[in-house]
Amino acid sequence: MLRIAVLVSGGGTNLQAIIDGIAKGTITNTEISLVLSNNKDAYALERAAKAGIKGVCVSAKDFADREDFHKAYMAAIDEAGVDLIVLAGCLVVLPETLVKKYENRIINIHPSLIPAFCGTGFYGLKVHEEALKRGVKLTGATCHFVDCGTDTGPIILQKAVEVKTGDTPKELQLRVMEEAEWEIMPKAIDLIANGKVQVVENKVIITE
Ligand code: GRF
Repeated sequence: MLRIAVLVSGGGTNLQAIIDGIAKGTITNTEISLVLSNNKDAYALERAAKAGIKGVCVSAKDFADREDFHKAYMAAIDEAGVDLIVLAGCLVVLPETLVKKYENRIINIHPSLIPAFCGTGFYGLKVHEEALKRGVKLTGATCHFVDCGTDTGPIILQKAVEVKTGDTPKELQLRVMEEAEWEIMPKAIDLIANGKVQVVENKVIITE
């Protein structure tokens, strides 16, 4: 059984897709051991409570400095004893010690086809605003392992989504979530839980 910690900061629709995937059996061999939020008002914490999953909040606001916050945040993850960390709308820049300790054991979902519209500053609606500004006809989502860079880790799965004439950033964001994010993140977890994902020379090989 793959034990996962899901790290969140906001609404938690990707968390919900994981909870639903486990309930429906599209994600197998997986148990959510912890939902960790850096924001006490995150609706994701309510989603965890409703599903009977342990939810914990460790907020930077409660610590004198960044270092103490990072220590407490990492301790919460370590205490849960997880095999995989899943970033599902997590706005905390993870400390390097954590990223190194969990090498190839942290995954993230990013709302574009990496390497387009990614890197520092590309989060939330900004990603979709930039895609619309550039006039791309296809965008999408990418599920990838997390390394010490921003959106630079090995890519596990990607799915393209059509941009429609007249889309607003919000409309595009929702379509990318519905058609891509909520599908590929659960799928990546299921593949990892079943030993089908391997990282070789910084690239992911999937054996189905
Ligand atoms: C998603 O767009 C995801 O791609 C990005 O943050 C957003 C999280 O949404 N990393 P939610 O909290 O899962 O609803």
